Amino acid sequence: MNENIAGMARPFTTNEHLIRWVEKMAELTQPEAIHWVDGSQQEYDRLCEEMVAAGTFTRLNQELWPGCFLARSDPRDVARVEDRTFICSLSKDNAGPTNNWVDPFEMRRKLKELFHGAMRGRTMYVLPFSMGPVGSPMSRIGVELTDSPYVVANMRIMTRIGLPVFQEIDKGEVRVVPCMHSVGMPLAPGQKDVSWPCNETKYIVHFPETREIWSYGSGYGGNALLGKKCFALRIASNIARDEGWMAEHMLILGVESPEGEKTYVAAAFPSACGKTNLAMLVPPAAFQGWKVTTVGDDIAWIKPDANGQLRAINPEAGFFGVAPGTSDKTNPNAMATLRRNTIFTNVALTPEGGVWWEGMTDEAPAECLDWRGQRWTPAIAKETGAKAAHPNGRFTAPAAQCPSIDAAWENPAGVPISAFLFGGRRSTTMPLIYQAFNWSAGVYVGATMGSETTAAATGAVGIVRRDPMAMLPFCGYHMGDYFRHWLKMQRTLDAAPRIFHVNWFRKDEQGRFLWPGFGENMRILKWIVDRARGRAQAKETPIGWTPYYEDIDWTGLDYPREAFETMQEVSRAAWRKEVLGHEELFLDVHDHLPSEMIYQRELLICRL
Ligand code: OXD
Ligand code: MN
Repeated sequence: MNENIAGMARPFTTNEHLIRWVEKMAELTQPEAIHWVDGSQQEYDRLCEEMVAAGTFTRLNQELWPGCFLARSDPRDVARVEDRTFICSLSKDNAGPTNNWVDPFEMRRKLKELFHGAMRGRTMYVLPFSMGPVGSPMSRIGVELTDSPYVVANMRIMTRIGLPVFQEIDKGEVRVVPCMHSVGMPLAPGQKDVSWPCNETKYIVHFPETREIWSYGSGYGGNALLGKKCFALRIASNIARDEGWMAEHMLILGVESPEGEKTYVAAAFPSACGKTNLAMLVPPAAFQGWKVTTVGDDIAWIKPDANGQLRAINPEAGFFGVAPGTSDKTNPNAMATLRRNTIFTNVALTPEGGVWWEGMTDEAPAECLDWRGQRWTPAIAKETGAKAAHPNGRFTAPAAQCPSIDAAWENPAGVPISAFLFGGRRSTTMPLIYQAFNWSAGVYVGATMGSETTAAATGAVGIVRRDPMAMLPFCGYHMGDYFRHWLKMQRTLDAAPRIFHVNWFRKDEQGRFLWPGFGENMRILKWIVDRARGRAQAKETPIGWTPYYEDIDWTGLDYPREAFETMQEVSRAAWRKEVLGHEELFLDVHDHLPSEMIYQRELLICRL
């Protein structure tokens, strides 16, 4: 053991394998100290204090924002880096054409080089975390070695960390997923640190067979909080395939009727399509006694129980939500959640010591410091187009603080899922709501789902990008095999959840949204629940079952029949084009595409 490494003498675990791995990684990365994370409030407070002193954190006005901090990242480290994300399976074919692949032996050589001495002058934190409630049979455990206290603080909100997790490891029954993380900026003796260390060179690497994660060069979000996309989706999708369950990019919500009947729904939408808003929906006033409750807003781990009922847990313990656009109008439950004990990243700082972002209030503050710490006023914004908050500015907030949190959100056995929703941002073609005819047809709907890019993102409006089950950036193996796994899951189920497609974003010919969305989506959820429970009418169309106007509860909303018909229209001409679009992705994955997908496509073409 390296005697120079402080703290190494007091590991909070008796697990020899873990201790040896930490030693080995310390030898490789050569940190100045090692800190075994206990997960306590005192430890968190001390870390925050240190980050305030280092300039990483700004403490917000504690009267207005108790327990809240603001972090500003390096402007070159603001989002997930998909082009630097790798699935290094033994064979390239296993990663499939939609993932970046590098030979694992070559990648290990590269990583060894990068991590050699990478933590010099810094503390290595040994951070044990549980994805899912500690001790739940559906939970999985990881240990992240990181040189970023920002990561430790965020992971304390996003996952369960510390001593209880070490105790779980010490039982010796769980397989730990090792997660290596370095911001990639070692400090020479006497070298002054920066407030957000990172490196131009970035690698986010997954080894599916050995269930390992290595992340280098970034301190931001999904690149660095390794429990989230790296573990809970990319590695977990591999584990789930092998073990017969599902790791999905899905929110989980509960719908409770005035009579107390509870129905859980899981929904997959790509980023920026309102997952967090739907998960925290507030029903319209006319829906007296109805409640929507939140289990999770981003990731679902779903497994059949002994009776063949799919049950889901949210593996996370917090929300890492996009701040811009979040307001008391669009998502009052999120606003209430982030009022305290929250870490904000890359949003604006007001003169009162509060935070602000575009869309938070109707009126912008007269002045503030933008996400880069520069003076910002509405006039400057008008002149230069500068945003106060970065469009990917985030809040990291504890799920337990959410007013709509479901009573069973930490149930170790999960909640029973009755329906799956797929959806994207589509201004044409896709009706507000339809139900797939059966499981296979539903898998086809999910596999072919797409979402439109905006002018801001690509320069071209209305380009539909295919994003199967919203998993394109997150599936840790071949997409074609992933579809096959979905199809196979049905055989393990007694009653498979019903599958639906929703589109809140259809527009009329003038480019106006046809549907008000947000709380009004409750009306559609209600039909979904009724269908899932086999008690609502539906009309057969070439693409699936759709509600009649009379089947939707319109209480308190004057929504004309004609508008509904326009919104629900299934245009044969538009759908012929749509089917050609499906082919694009299928061509890429054709050699692994299950024949059921081809069959479903043929059936759809015949019906059209
Ligand atoms: C997220 C994402 O951060 O999907 O959840 O990008
Ligand atoms: Mn997500």
